[in-house]
Amino acid sequence: NENQLLNVTLKVAKVVILGDVGTGKTSLVNRFVNQSFSNNYKATIGVDFEVERFDVLDMPFNLQIWDTAGQERFRCIASSYYRGAHAVVLVCDVTNLSTLTHAAQWLQDAQDANPGTQHDMMVMLVVNKRDMVNDTMFGIVEVKARQMCLSLGAEYWAVSAKTGECVEDFFRRLAALVFNAA
Ligand code: GTP
Ligand code: MG
Repeated sequence: NENQLLNVTLKVAKVVILGDVGTGKTSLVNRFVNQSFSNNYKATIGVDFEVERFDVLDMPFNLQIWDTAGQERFRCIASSYYRGAHAVVLVCDVTNLSTLTHAAQWLQDAQDANPGTQHDMMVMLVVNKRDMVNDTMFGIVEVKARQMCLSLGAEYWAVSAKTGECVEDFFRRLAALVFNAA
């Protein structure tokens, strides 16, 4: 019937992007959706919303991307948008280790908003601003980030919204993962 046809032709998944202020959440989404980047910081107020159409295994697929605010004063507003998320993307800044330790708290917020369903949510940990550190520094952060991923049940990624390094690969992987869950 018609509903079945719709189901087959278009799948939708909700992804929420979380993390401390200034880690580059908006930049990451902007790089992926608009293929652009700005060095200027413009704080996200509450939440922004983007939809990106994909084909995964030749099936049309919509990724709803909810780009939330990292600023503490918006935390309550942002958390009201976490409900029903198929995936949670925890964004950290490679130059600021405290953003990595805070990832656990962001994930907790997302899980609190989705009681009983956390096992269905994909969790991705994204270390952003890879362009800002040399290989030695990056290696130190990567070890810590991978440990964090083990404890959070997250998949590890390192990207740069500025250069675009691994951003497309990351979102394609995310879409492939949530495609089955959506
Ligand atoms: P909130 O909305 O306040 O939570 O911040 P946000 O996480 O959305 O950070 P945003 O994307 O606004 O980026 C913060 C600053 O970091 C901006 O000045 C960006 O230009 C910069 N930035 C983001 N990603 C990168 C990156 O990969 N490399 C470099 N060098 N700078 C980046
Ligand atoms: Mg933002």
